[in-house]
Amino acid sequence: LALVLTGACALAQTGAQTTGMQVPATSPALPTGFTAPSGYGDSVYPALGDAGLDVTHYDLSLRSDPGVDRLTGRAVLSIVARQTLSQLNLDFAGPQVLGVKLDGKAVRHAQVGEKLLVLPPVSIASGTAFTLTVSYSGTPALHLDASSGGGLRLGWIAQAGGSYVLSEPDGAHTFFPCNDVPADGASYSLHLNVPAGTTAVASGVQTRQQTGGGRVYTDFQLAQPIPTYALTVHTGHLQLQTQPGPAGIAIRNAFPVGLPGTVRAAFDQTPAMLGFLAGWFGPYPYPVYGVAVSEDPQLPALETATLSTFPSRPEAPVTALHELAHQWFGDDLRLGDWSDIWLNEGFATYAELLWAEGQGEATAPILERWYARLKREPARGLIATEPAQLFDASSYFRGALTLHALRLKVGDDLFRQIVRTYAARFSGRSVRTTDFLNVVRELGSAAAVETLRPWLTGPALPPLPEAPLAQS
Ligand code: ARG
Ligand code: ZN
Repeated sequence: LALVLTGACALAQTGAQTTGMQVPATSPALPTGFTAPSGYGDSVYPALGDAGLDVTHYDLSLRSDPGVDRLTGRAVLSIVARQTLSQLNLDFAGPQVLGVKLDGKAVRHAQVGEKLLVLPPVSIASGTAFTLTVSYSGTPALHLDASSGGGLRLGWIAQAGGSYVLSEPDGAHTFFPCNDVPADGASYSLHLNVPAGTTAVASGVQTRQQTGGGRVYTDFQLAQPIPTYALTVHTGHLQLQTQPGPAGIAIRNAFPVGLPGTVRAAFDQTPAMLGFLAGWFGPYPYPVYGVAVSEDPQLPALETATLSTFPSRPEAPVTALHELAHQWFGDDLRLGDWSDIWLNEGFATYAELLWAEGQGEATAPILERWYARLKREPARGLIATEPAQLFDASSYFRGALTLHALRLKVGDDLFRQIVRTYAARFSGRSVRTTDFLNVVRELGSAAAVETLRPWLTGPALPPLPEAPLAQS
Protein backbone atom coordinates (compact mmCIF):
# COMPACT_ATOMS: atom_id res chain seq x y z
CA LEU A 1 0.00 0.00 0.00
CA ALA A 2 1.19 3.50 -0.68
CA LEU A 3 0.02 5.51 2.30
CA VAL A 4 -2.40 8.20 1.28
CA LEU A 5 -1.26 11.65 2.18
CA THR A 6 -4.56 13.32 2.84
CA GLY A 7 -7.68 12.22 4.61
CA ALA A 8 -7.96 9.65 7.34
CA CYS A 9 -5.82 6.61 6.78
CA ALA A 10 -7.04 3.69 8.81
CA LEU A 11 -3.68 2.01 8.48
CA ALA A 12 -1.67 4.80 9.99
CA GLN A 13 -3.68 5.59 13.07
CA THR A 14 -1.46 6.88 15.80
CA GLY A 15 -4.15 6.70 18.44
CA ALA A 16 -4.16 2.94 18.67
CA GLN A 17 -2.43 1.94 21.88
CA THR A 18 -0.95 -1.50 21.75
CA THR A 19 1.88 -2.96 23.69
CA GLY A 20 4.83 -4.60 22.05
CA MET A 21 3.95 -7.94 23.57
CA GLN A 22 1.67 -10.37 21.82
CA VAL A 23 -0.07 -11.91 24.79
CA PRO A 24 -2.57 -14.62 23.94
CA ALA A 25 -6.06 -13.57 25.04
CA THR A 26 -6.32 -16.72 27.09
CA SER A 27 -3.54 -19.01 28.24
CA PRO A 28 -4.97 -22.41 27.44
CA ALA A 29 -3.78 -25.29 29.56
CA LEU A 30 -1.06 -27.43 28.01
CA PRO A 31 -1.68 -31.15 27.56
CA THR A 32 0.71 -33.30 29.59
CA GLY A 33 4.15 -33.68 28.16
CA PHE A 34 4.10 -30.27 26.42
CA THR A 35 5.88 -27.15 27.61
CA ALA A 36 5.02 -23.49 27.06
CA PRO A 37 6.64 -22.27 23.83
CA SER A 38 9.05 -19.37 23.67
CA GLY A 39 9.08 -17.49 20.38
CA TYR A 40 11.73 -16.89 17.76
CA GLY A 41 12.85 -13.70 19.49
CA ASP A 42 11.44 -11.03 17.20
CA SER A 43 11.46 -7.77 19.11
CA VAL A 44 8.00 -6.61 17.95
CA TYR A 45 6.25 -10.00 17.83
CA PRO A 46 8.10 -12.03 20.49
CA ALA A 47 5.55 -14.85 20.65
CA LEU A 48 5.79 -15.74 16.96
CA GLY A 49 7.99 -18.50 15.62
CA ASP A 50 10.48 -20.88 17.13
CA ALA A 51 14.19 -20.00 17.35
CA GLY A 52 15.09 -23.68 17.09
CA LEU A 53 13.68 -24.07 13.58
CA ASP A 54 15.08 -23.17 10.19
CA VAL A 55 12.33 -24.07 7.72
CA THR A 56 13.96 -24.24 4.31
CA HIS A 57 10.96 -25.31 2.20
CA TYR A 58 7.19 -25.55 2.48
CA ASP A 59 5.35 -27.99 0.22
CA LEU A 60 1.67 -27.09 0.52
CA SER A 61 -1.35 -28.89 -0.88
CA LEU A 62 -4.51 -26.83 -0.45
CA ARG A 63 -8.02 -27.76 -1.41
CA SER A 64 -10.72 -25.10 -1.35
CA ASP A 65 -14.08 -24.24 -2.89
CA PRO A 66 -15.39 -20.77 -3.70
CA GLY A 67 -17.88 -19.49 -1.18
CA VAL A 68 -17.04 -22.16 1.39
CA ASP A 69 -14.99 -21.06 4.40
CA ARG A 70 -13.16 -24.33 4.62
CA LEU A 71 -9.67 -25.38 3.73
CA THR A 72 -8.20 -28.86 3.54
CA GLY A 73 -4.46 -28.97 3.48
CA ARG A 74 -1.29 -30.89 3.84
CA ALA A 75 1.94 -29.08 4.62
CA VAL A 76 5.32 -30.75 4.34
CA LEU A 77 7.97 -28.63 6.03
CA SER A 78 11.66 -29.24 5.37
CA ILE A 79 13.36 -28.17 8.58
CA VAL A 80 16.90 -27.96 9.90
CA ALA A 81 17.24 -27.90 13.70
CA ARG A 82 19.14 -24.81 14.85
CA GLN A 83 19.35 -26.20 18.41
CA THR A 84 18.55 -29.45 20.18
CA LEU A 85 14.80 -29.80 19.87
CA SER A 86 12.64 -31.53 22.45
CA GLN A 87 9.46 -29.83 21.20
CA LEU A 88 8.62 -27.98 17.96
CA ASN A 89 6.57 -24.79 18.33
CA LEU A 90 5.02 -23.84 15.02
CA ASP A 91 2.55 -21.03 14.49
CA PHE A 92 -0.85 -22.25 13.35
CA ALA A 93 -4.26 -20.66 13.78
CA GLY A 94 -5.61 -22.73 10.99
CA PRO A 95 -8.11 -25.52 10.63
CA GLN A 96 -8.10 -28.57 12.85
CA VAL A 97 -4.98 -30.70 12.62
CA LEU A 98 -5.75 -34.28 11.69
CA GLY A 99 -2.27 -35.68 12.04
CA VAL A 100 1.42 -34.84 12.24
CA LYS A 101 4.29 -36.99 11.01
CA LEU A 102 7.99 -36.51 11.63
CA ASP A 103 10.05 -38.13 8.87
CA GLY A 104 6.94 -40.16 8.04
CA LYS A 105 6.18 -41.39 11.58
CA ALA A 106 3.14 -40.19 13.51
CA VAL A 107 4.01 -37.94 16.46
CA ARG A 108 2.07 -36.31 19.29
CA HIS A 109 0.83 -32.79 18.69
CA ALA A 110 -1.34 -30.18 20.38
CA GLN A 111 -3.07 -27.08 19.00
CA VAL A 112 -2.78 -24.51 21.76
CA GLY A 113 -3.86 -20.94 21.05
CA GLU A 114 -2.19 -20.03 17.75
CA LYS A 115 0.56 -22.64 18.16
CA LEU A 116 0.94 -26.16 16.89
CA LEU A 117 3.19 -27.98 19.35
CA VAL A 118 4.84 -31.20 18.25
CA LEU A 119 6.68 -33.73 20.44
CA PRO A 120 9.40 -35.73 18.72
CA PRO A 121 9.77 -39.18 20.34
CA VAL A 122 13.42 -38.37 21.09
CA SER A 123 15.17 -34.99 21.00
CA ILE A 124 16.38 -33.87 17.59
CA ALA A 125 20.06 -32.94 17.54
CA SER A 126 21.11 -29.50 16.38
CA GLY A 127 21.93 -29.51 12.67
CA THR A 128 19.58 -32.41 11.84
CA ALA A 129 17.45 -32.07 8.71
CA PHE A 130 13.96 -33.57 8.90
CA THR A 131 10.49 -33.23 7.45
CA LEU A 132 7.28 -32.54 9.28
CA THR A 133 3.98 -33.38 7.59
CA VAL A 134 0.83 -31.75 8.91
CA SER A 135 -2.65 -32.66 7.64
CA TYR A 136 -5.56 -30.38 8.45
CA SER A 137 -9.13 -29.57 7.51
CA GLY A 138 -11.62 -26.98 8.66
CA THR A 139 -12.15 -23.26 8.90
CA PRO A 140 -9.18 -20.89 9.19
CA ALA A 141 -9.28 -18.84 12.42
CA LEU A 142 -10.36 -15.22 12.38
CA HIS A 143 -7.02 -13.53 12.98
CA LEU A 144 -7.07 -9.76 13.42
CA ASP A 145 -4.17 -7.48 12.69
CA ALA A 146 -2.51 -5.98 15.78
CA SER A 147 -0.56 -3.56 13.57
CA SER A 148 -3.75 -1.81 12.49
CA GLY A 149 -5.38 -1.95 15.92
CA GLY A 150 -7.39 -5.04 15.07
CA GLY A 151 -9.23 -3.37 12.20
CA LEU A 152 -8.09 -5.76 9.51
CA ARG A 153 -8.55 -9.48 9.05
CA LEU A 154 -5.39 -11.30 8.01
CA GLY A 155 -4.60 -14.61 6.41
CA TRP A 156 -6.69 -16.87 4.21
CA ILE A 157 -9.96 -15.15 3.46
CA ALA A 158 -12.89 -16.81 1.71
CA GLN A 159 -15.14 -14.66 -0.44
CA ALA A 160 -18.33 -15.34 -2.37
CA GLY A 161 -16.49 -16.15 -5.59
CA GLY A 162 -13.19 -17.52 -4.28
CA SER A 163 -10.47 -16.67 -1.79
CA TYR A 164 -7.40 -14.55 -1.30
CA VAL A 165 -4.56 -14.25 1.17
CA LEU A 166 -3.42 -11.12 3.02
CA SER A 167 -0.83 -12.02 5.61
CA GLU A 168 1.50 -9.19 6.50
CA PRO A 169 2.60 -9.24 9.22
CA ASP A 170 1.39 -12.46 10.85
CA GLY A 171 -1.53 -13.96 8.93
CA ALA A 172 0.27 -16.77 7.11
CA HIS A 173 -0.26 -19.16 9.99
CA THR A 174 -4.04 -19.06 9.39
CA PHE A 175 -3.58 -21.35 6.40
CA PHE A 176 -0.41 -23.31 6.92
CA PRO A 177 1.68 -24.23 9.95
CA CYS A 178 4.86 -22.21 9.80
CA ASN A 179 7.71 -20.47 11.54
CA ASP A 180 5.86 -17.19 11.10
CA VAL A 181 8.70 -14.68 11.34
CA PRO A 182 10.16 -12.86 8.34
CA ALA A 183 13.69 -13.77 9.42
CA ASP A 184 13.09 -17.43 8.50
CA GLY A 185 12.65 -17.39 4.74
CA ALA A 186 11.81 -20.48 2.71
CA SER A 187 11.10 -21.64 -0.82
CA TYR A 188 7.68 -23.07 -1.74
CA SER A 189 5.93 -25.75 -3.76
CA LEU A 190 2.17 -25.34 -4.01
CA HIS A 191 -0.45 -27.81 -5.16
CA LEU A 192 -3.80 -26.10 -5.45
CA ASN A 193 -7.06 -27.97 -5.86
CA VAL A 194 -10.20 -26.05 -6.83
CA PRO A 195 -13.41 -26.92 -8.70
CA ALA A 196 -13.17 -27.05 -12.48
CA GLY A 197 -14.14 -23.67 -13.90
CA THR A 198 -12.29 -21.91 -11.08
CA THR A 199 -8.76 -20.58 -11.38
CA ALA A 200 -6.07 -20.82 -8.72
CA VAL A 201 -2.98 -18.67 -8.95
CA ALA A 202 -0.14 -18.25 -6.51
CA SER A 203 3.33 -16.91 -5.83
CA GLY A 204 5.90 -18.55 -8.08
CA VAL A 205 6.01 -20.14 -11.50
CA GLN A 206 3.17 -22.37 -12.64
CA THR A 207 4.67 -25.79 -13.31
CA ARG A 208 1.68 -28.02 -14.02
CA GLN A 209 -2.06 -28.04 -14.51
CA GLN A 210 -4.37 -31.02 -14.71
CA THR A 211 -8.12 -31.52 -14.65
CA GLY A 212 -10.00 -34.56 -13.44
CA GLY A 213 -13.07 -35.52 -11.45
CA GLY A 214 -14.50 -32.04 -11.68
CA ARG A 215 -11.41 -30.49 -10.09
CA VAL A 216 -8.47 -28.55 -11.45
CA TYR A 217 -5.02 -29.08 -9.96
CA THR A 218 -2.43 -26.36 -10.44
CA ASP A 219 1.15 -26.41 -9.15
CA PHE A 220 3.49 -23.51 -8.49
CA GLN A 221 7.17 -23.40 -7.55
CA LEU A 222 9.01 -20.54 -5.92
CA ALA A 223 12.69 -21.41 -5.68
CA GLN A 224 13.80 -18.19 -3.97
CA PRO A 225 13.30 -17.90 -0.20
CA ILE A 226 10.66 -15.40 0.90
CA PRO A 227 9.08 -14.47 4.23
CA THR A 228 5.89 -16.36 5.11
CA TYR A 229 3.68 -13.26 4.81
CA ALA A 230 4.78 -12.76 1.21
CA LEU A 231 3.20 -16.01 0.02
CA THR A 232 -0.10 -15.58 -1.77
CA VAL A 233 -2.82 -17.77 -3.21
CA HIS A 234 -5.87 -16.42 -5.04
CA THR A 235 -8.76 -18.55 -6.23
CA GLY A 236 -11.94 -17.63 -8.05
CA HIS A 237 -13.31 -16.65 -11.41
CA LEU A 238 -10.07 -15.15 -12.53
CA GLN A 239 -8.80 -14.24 -15.92
CA LEU A 240 -5.07 -14.75 -16.35
CA GLN A 241 -3.29 -12.30 -18.56
CA THR A 242 0.28 -13.09 -19.55
CA GLN A 243 2.80 -11.31 -21.71
CA PRO A 244 6.58 -11.28 -22.07
CA GLY A 245 8.24 -8.53 -20.03
CA PRO A 246 11.74 -7.05 -20.04
CA ALA A 247 14.87 -9.15 -19.36
CA GLY A 248 13.03 -12.45 -19.85
CA ILE A 249 10.62 -11.80 -16.96
CA ALA A 250 7.14 -13.18 -17.61
CA ILE A 251 4.32 -10.80 -16.74
CA ARG A 252 1.26 -12.51 -15.31
CA ASN A 253 -1.81 -10.77 -13.92
CA ALA A 254 -4.93 -12.35 -12.44
CA PHE A 255 -8.06 -10.23 -12.67
CA PRO A 256 -11.56 -11.21 -11.57
CA VAL A 257 -13.71 -11.76 -14.65
CA GLY A 258 -15.49 -8.52 -15.44
CA LEU A 259 -13.07 -6.28 -13.53
CA PRO A 260 -13.51 -2.70 -14.76
CA GLY A 261 -10.76 -1.31 -16.99
CA THR A 262 -10.36 1.58 -14.53
CA VAL A 263 -8.99 -0.90 -11.98
CA ARG A 264 -6.70 -2.65 -14.47
CA ALA A 265 -5.26 0.62 -15.70
CA ALA A 266 -2.92 0.98 -12.71
CA PHE A 267 -1.02 -2.07 -13.95
CA ASP A 268 -0.51 -1.07 -17.57
CA GLN A 269 2.99 0.19 -16.91
CA THR A 270 4.40 -2.93 -15.25
CA PRO A 271 6.96 -3.62 -18.02
CA ALA A 272 8.31 -0.07 -17.88
CA MET A 273 8.36 -0.13 -14.08
CA LEU A 274 10.29 -3.41 -14.04
CA GLY A 275 12.92 -1.92 -16.33
CA PHE A 276 13.07 1.33 -14.41
CA LEU A 277 13.49 -0.21 -10.97
CA ALA A 278 16.07 -2.71 -12.22
CA GLY A 279 18.07 0.36 -13.27
CA TRP A 280 18.20 1.57 -9.66
CA PHE A 281 18.12 -1.68 -7.69
CA GLY A 282 19.70 -4.27 -9.98
CA PRO A 283 18.02 -7.30 -11.61
CA TYR A 284 14.45 -8.14 -10.60
CA PRO A 285 14.80 -11.17 -8.30
CA TYR A 286 12.16 -13.55 -9.76
CA PRO A 287 11.28 -15.09 -13.14
CA VAL A 288 7.70 -13.78 -13.06
CA TYR A 289 5.77 -10.74 -11.87
CA GLY A 290 2.23 -9.46 -11.90
CA VAL A 291 -0.72 -8.62 -9.70
CA ALA A 292 -3.78 -10.46 -8.45
CA VAL A 293 -6.82 -8.31 -7.86
CA SER A 294 -9.17 -9.60 -5.18
CA GLU A 295 -12.95 -9.15 -5.19
CA ASP A 296 -12.57 -7.05 -2.06
CA PRO A 297 -12.44 -3.27 -2.65
CA GLN A 298 -11.17 -2.50 0.87
CA LEU A 299 -7.98 -4.41 1.54
CA PRO A 300 -4.60 -2.67 1.46
CA ALA A 301 -2.31 -3.53 -1.45
CA LEU A 302 0.37 -6.02 -0.43
CA GLU A 303 3.69 -6.99 -2.02
CA THR A 304 3.06 -10.75 -2.19
CA ALA A 305 6.00 -12.38 -3.92
CA THR A 306 5.86 -12.47 -7.73
CA LEU A 307 2.14 -11.64 -7.54
CA SER A 308 1.24 -8.51 -5.62
CA THR A 309 -2.24 -8.41 -4.11
CA PHE A 310 -4.59 -5.51 -4.82
CA PRO A 311 -8.11 -4.51 -3.88
CA SER A 312 -10.76 -4.19 -6.60
CA ARG A 313 -10.75 -0.41 -6.65
CA PRO A 314 -8.85 1.99 -8.88
CA GLU A 315 -5.37 2.54 -7.47
CA ALA A 316 -2.76 5.08 -8.54
CA PRO A 317 -0.01 3.59 -10.73
CA VAL A 318 2.43 4.69 -8.04
CA THR A 319 0.89 2.12 -5.69
CA ALA A 320 1.61 -0.55 -8.30
CA LEU A 321 5.18 0.75 -8.41
CA HIS A 322 5.41 0.64 -4.61
CA GLU A 323 4.44 -3.05 -4.43
CA LEU A 324 6.83 -3.87 -7.26
CA ALA A 325 9.69 -2.16 -5.39
CA HIS A 326 8.92 -4.35 -2.37
CA GLN A 327 9.80 -7.42 -4.44
CA TRP A 328 13.42 -6.37 -3.92
CA PHE A 329 12.95 -4.78 -0.49
CA GLY A 330 10.70 -6.95 1.65
CA ASP A 331 10.47 -10.15 -0.34
CA ASP A 332 13.94 -10.91 -1.73
CA LEU A 333 15.69 -9.01 1.06
CA ARG A 334 13.50 -9.94 4.00
CA LEU A 335 13.43 -8.42 7.46
CA GLY A 336 15.59 -10.01 10.13
CA ASP A 337 13.29 -8.45 12.70
CA TRP A 338 10.02 -6.51 12.43
CA SER A 339 11.63 -3.50 14.11
CA ASP A 340 13.53 -2.89 10.85
CA ILE A 341 10.33 -2.41 8.82
CA TRP A 342 11.62 0.90 7.42
CA LEU A 343 13.98 -1.21 5.27
CA ASN A 344 10.79 -2.34 3.50
CA GLU A 345 8.51 0.67 3.60
CA GLY A 346 11.13 3.42 3.34
CA PHE A 347 12.67 1.84 0.24
CA ALA A 348 9.33 1.13 -1.48
CA THR A 349 8.16 4.67 -0.75
CA TYR A 350 11.40 6.20 -1.98
CA ALA A 351 10.98 4.20 -5.20
CA GLU A 352 7.81 6.23 -5.77
CA LEU A 353 9.89 9.40 -5.88
CA LEU A 354 12.47 7.84 -8.16
CA TRP A 355 9.71 6.81 -10.55
CA ALA A 356 8.04 10.24 -10.48
CA GLU A 357 11.40 11.85 -11.17
CA GLY A 358 11.99 9.42 -14.04
CA GLN A 359 8.61 10.44 -15.47
CA GLY A 360 9.77 14.06 -15.47
CA GLU A 361 7.63 15.09 -12.52
CA ALA A 362 8.82 17.65 -9.98
CA THR A 363 9.97 15.93 -6.82
CA ALA A 364 9.97 18.89 -4.42
CA PRO A 365 6.20 18.73 -3.87
CA ILE A 366 6.45 15.01 -3.05
CA LEU A 367 9.19 15.62 -0.49
CA GLU A 368 7.21 18.47 1.04
CA ARG A 369 4.06 16.34 1.29
CA TRP A 370 5.97 13.58 3.02
CA TYR A 371 7.54 16.04 5.41
CA ALA A 372 4.25 17.80 6.17
CA ARG A 373 2.68 14.45 6.91
CA LEU A 374 5.46 13.58 9.36
CA LYS A 375 5.13 16.94 11.11
CA ARG A 376 1.47 16.22 11.85
CA GLU A 377 2.34 13.15 13.91
CA PRO A 378 4.52 12.43 16.91
CA ALA A 379 8.06 11.90 15.67
CA ARG A 380 9.88 8.64 16.32
CA GLY A 381 13.18 7.14 15.31
CA LEU A 382 13.02 4.55 12.56
CA ILE A 383 13.40 1.41 14.64
CA ALA A 384 9.85 0.23 15.42
CA THR A 385 9.08 -1.04 18.89
CA GLU A 386 5.43 -2.06 18.66
CA PRO A 387 2.97 -3.44 16.08
CA ALA A 388 1.10 -0.12 15.70
CA GLN A 389 4.29 1.45 14.32
CA LEU A 390 4.87 -1.02 11.50
CA PHE A 391 2.80 0.78 8.89
CA ASP A 392 2.75 4.29 10.32
CA ALA A 393 3.89 7.45 8.57
CA SER A 394 7.40 7.19 10.02
CA SER A 395 8.07 3.77 8.45
CA TYR A 396 7.03 5.10 5.06
CA PHE A 397 7.95 8.77 4.89
CA ARG A 398 10.71 9.14 7.46
CA GLY A 399 12.16 5.96 5.96
CA ALA A 400 11.99 7.44 2.47
CA LEU A 401 13.44 10.79 3.57
CA THR A 402 16.33 8.93 5.22
CA LEU A 403 17.22 7.52 1.82
CA HIS A 404 16.80 10.93 0.25
CA ALA A 405 19.19 12.44 2.81
CA LEU A 406 21.71 9.74 1.90
CA ARG A 407 21.29 10.35 -1.80
CA LEU A 408 21.87 14.09 -1.41
CA LYS A 409 24.94 13.42 0.73
CA VAL A 410 26.65 10.93 -1.62
CA GLY A 411 25.25 11.84 -5.04
CA ASP A 412 23.24 9.78 -7.51
CA ASP A 413 25.99 7.48 -8.75
CA LEU A 414 27.15 6.38 -5.35
CA PHE A 415 23.59 6.16 -4.06
CA ARG A 416 22.72 3.80 -6.88
CA GLN A 417 25.86 1.76 -6.21
CA ILE A 418 25.06 1.51 -2.49
CA VAL A 419 21.47 0.39 -3.12
CA ARG A 420 22.50 -2.12 -5.78
CA THR A 421 25.29 -3.55 -3.64
CA TYR A 422 22.92 -3.89 -0.69
CA ALA A 423 20.28 -5.59 -2.90
CA ALA A 424 22.79 -7.97 -4.49
CA ARG A 425 24.66 -8.86 -1.30
CA PHE A 426 21.54 -9.68 0.68
CA SER A 427 19.46 -11.24 -2.09
CA GLY A 428 17.59 -14.20 -0.61
CA ARG A 429 18.73 -13.27 2.91
CA SER A 430 17.42 -11.44 5.94
CA VAL A 431 18.58 -7.92 6.71
CA ARG A 432 18.91 -5.65 9.71
CA THR A 433 19.44 -1.90 9.69
CA THR A 434 23.14 -2.41 10.46
CA ASP A 435 23.55 -4.44 7.27
CA PHE A 436 22.47 -1.42 5.24
CA LEU A 437 24.61 0.97 7.29
CA ASN A 438 27.63 -1.26 6.75
CA VAL A 439 27.20 -1.00 2.98
CA VAL A 440 26.83 2.79 3.29
CA ARG A 441 30.06 2.94 5.33
CA GLU A 442 31.92 0.61 2.99
CA LEU A 443 30.99 2.25 -0.30
CA GLY A 444 30.31 5.74 1.01
CA SER A 445 31.93 6.95 4.20
CA ALA A 446 31.56 7.19 7.94
CA ALA A 447 30.23 10.70 7.33
CA ALA A 448 27.47 9.29 5.14
CA VAL A 449 26.46 6.98 7.98
CA GLU A 450 26.42 9.95 10.34
CA THR A 451 23.99 11.74 8.00
CA LEU A 452 21.57 8.87 8.60
CA ARG A 453 21.91 8.73 12.39
CA PRO A 454 19.43 11.46 13.40
CA TRP A 455 16.84 9.93 11.08
CA LEU A 456 17.36 6.49 12.55
CA THR A 457 17.66 7.25 16.21
CA GLY A 458 15.43 10.30 16.58
CA PRO A 459 12.94 10.88 17.88
CA ALA A 460 13.20 14.51 16.69
CA LEU A 461 12.41 14.95 13.01
CA PRO A 462 15.54 16.27 11.27
CA PRO A 463 15.12 19.18 8.84
CA LEU A 464 13.92 18.28 5.34
CA PRO A 465 17.10 17.44 3.42
CA GLU A 466 17.71 20.03 0.74
CA ALA A 467 19.53 19.64 -2.52
CA PRO A 468 22.73 21.70 -2.71
CA LEU A 469 22.16 24.77 -4.89
CA ALA A 470 23.06 24.02 -8.47
CA GLN A 471 26.27 25.72 -9.69
CA SER A 472 25.61 28.12 -12.52
N1 ARG B 1 3.42 -3.66 3.12
C1 ARG B 1 2.16 -3.14 2.63
C2 ARG B 1 2.56 -2.01 1.70
O1 ARG B 1 3.00 -0.98 2.12
C3 ARG B 1 1.25 -2.66 3.70
C4 ARG B 1 0.66 -3.74 4.52
C5 ARG B 1 -0.29 -3.24 5.52
N2 ARG B 1 -0.62 -4.33 6.37
C6 ARG B 1 -1.31 -4.23 7.47
N3 ARG B 1 -1.47 -5.30 8.17
N4 ARG B 1 -1.77 -3.11 7.86
O2 ARG B 1 2.58 -2.18 0.54
ZN1 ZN C 1 4.84 -0.78 1.37
